[in-house]
Amino acid sequence: MKVTLSVIKADIGGFVGHSDSHPAILESAKESLEKSKADGLLIDYYVTKCGDDLQLIMTHNMGINNEKIHQMAWNTFTTGTDVARKLKLYGAGQDLLADAFSGNVKGMGPGVAEMGINERTSEPVIIFMADKTSSGAWNMPLYKMFADPFNTIGLVIAPNMHKGFSFEVHDVKEHKKIIFNTPEEIYDVLVFIGAPSRYAVKAVYSRDTGEIAAVSSTQKLSYIAGRYVGKDDPVCIVRAQGSFPAVGEVLEPFTLPALVEGWMRGSHNGPLMPVSVANSTPTRFDGPPRVTSLGFQLAEGKLIGPRDMFDDISFDDARKQANRAAEYLRRHGPFEPHRLPLDEMEYTTMPQVMDKLKDKFSILED
Ligand code: F6R
Ligand code: MG
Ligand code: MG
Repeated sequence: MKVTLSVIKADIGGFVGHSDSHPAILESAKESLEKSKADGLLIDYYVTKCGDDLQLIMTHNMGINNEKIHQMAWNTFTTGTDVARKLKLYGAGQDLLADAFSGNVKGMGPGVAEMGINERTSEPVIIFMADKTSSGAWNMPLYKMFADPFNTIGLVIAPNMHKGFSFEVHDVKEHKKIIFNTPEEIYDVLVFIGAPSRYAVKAVYSRDTGEIAAVSSTQKLSYIAGRYVGKDDPVCIVRAQGSFPAVGEVLEPFTLPALVEGWMRGSHNGPLMPVSVANSTPTRFDGPPRVTSLGFQLAEGKLIGPRDMFDDISFDDARKQANRAAEYLRRHGPFEPHRLPLDEMEYTTMPQVMDKLKDKFSILED
């Protein structure tokens, strides 16, 4: 059966500050999606949150980039924003950058990851959601899942994965894309995706079947808006088992709480901590950045689940490591590499300070 899995998300108001989502926002989204399911637009849905981001997980038969689905998601966010305004939640409507919907939510603020698939006899999917970080945060985990045999032994010993995967990489500044084939182009792909503030993995495909294996949301809100509007807090869908990495190989990269951009004021490097949905509450220095993962089995488009995959003691050590790294980085205060390089910070006073002091600068004589 052909089915489309869409994850569309937005921060439409935080509770308290930017640390979590209010239950009334989730309730309002559930009501909206329940209606769309009753109307036959959706096959199924699941509403959740990651920190202050509202996550709409939806299945349908309308294909990717569908206007009706995007319009309905947009309406869900605007209705939720009304609730957020009534409760005076923090940053109500923060990610809704346009006043009116115009065909597709891409470029309007919300994050989108969608894939159209032929549902297999059994179709396990994992949905990753992150808060207080940006889209390049998936680069290292996706590389490890689909190209690193020390993470995914299936690349070496499973006949249906041995041909490798291809990576679609986007240049988020210049809006260009390129495809790399792994394993033979791993040195080339790493030149780019090792610089995640500029290059982000948009999708991964099986080279054996050509089927899509993973898709992420790659837009950078700051580039869309031309001013600070929050990190994009990305999402990513990954298919597992069979000709794709096993569930355990898909989750394994997150045992390293890798440093990502984001955290306080979207202007710091911090460790990406794998947590349960209940623990996606970035409260320490508005962080550290969090990642959640929900697993579903698809059954004729129905979302069977979720299982909260990081709600497992085997990730305790990663969380401990993340807290230790967070503590170490915090001691650096406003110094790099805790603080981001000047052109990556989402908040800066540099232009004003520079302007105030410009006449005090003098040319260095040799
Ligand atoms: C980071 C984030 C928060 C805010 C910070 C300041 O992505 O959302 O760390 O940047 O709490 O928020 P404002 O400027 O809204 O007071
Ligand atoms: Mg927020
Ligand atoms: Mg957020």
